[in-house]
Amino acid sequence: AHCSWENRKEVQEIWHSVWGSQFAGRRVAVAKAVFQDLFNRDPDAKALFTRVNVDDMDSPEFEAHCLRVTNGLDTVIGLLDDATVLNEQLGHLHTQHEQREGVTAEHFAIFARSMAGALDQVAPCFNHRAWDDCFQVISDGIAHD
Ligand code: HEM
Repeated sequence: AHCSWENRKEVQEIWHSVWGSQFAGRRVAVAKAVFQDLFNRDPDAKALFTRVNVDDMDSPEFEAHCLRVTNGLDTVIGLLDDATVLNEQLGHLHTQHEQREGVTAEHFAIFARSMAGALDQVAPCFNHRAWDDCFQVISDGIAHD
């Protein structure tokens, strides 16, 4: 993947304007919609989240999970231009996901698409190419197969 300087800047700008302001106050709702979209595309993936009460997506357990994931994404997007710390953080997330049997790179590709769909709804001229290229770096760092 080629997450160039221009692509990084574009992804960071879109993410921060959308996540920081347009989605502020409804981050949990957006994150839940993203997970719902992922489960629609891959119903089997739902079983990975039983420990965080996925059967009730409005439960505090699942909402807290949504925040851990999206805050984690916020952190790595912010780190895209600091390769050393980024790799350390991706390695940490890799270890956390390694412990979860059944999480695949394909899940990350679907998640990227679901999240892009949410951003696309509010960001004018959302650049899918930049998003895909930079998300690939993130997913390569976290996913295991
Ligand atoms: C847990 C981040 C994508 C599956 C977590 C946690 C974080 C995180 C921070 C909590 C770790 C802990 O406190 O132990 C991310 C980020 C993602 C991402 C930043 C995208 C860039 C995914 C995807 C899947 C997945 C695509 C699979 C569909 C899981 C599972 C857990 C988890 C199964 C454990 C839930 C539990 O607590 O039982 N993730 N995640 N993650 N993630 Fe991800």
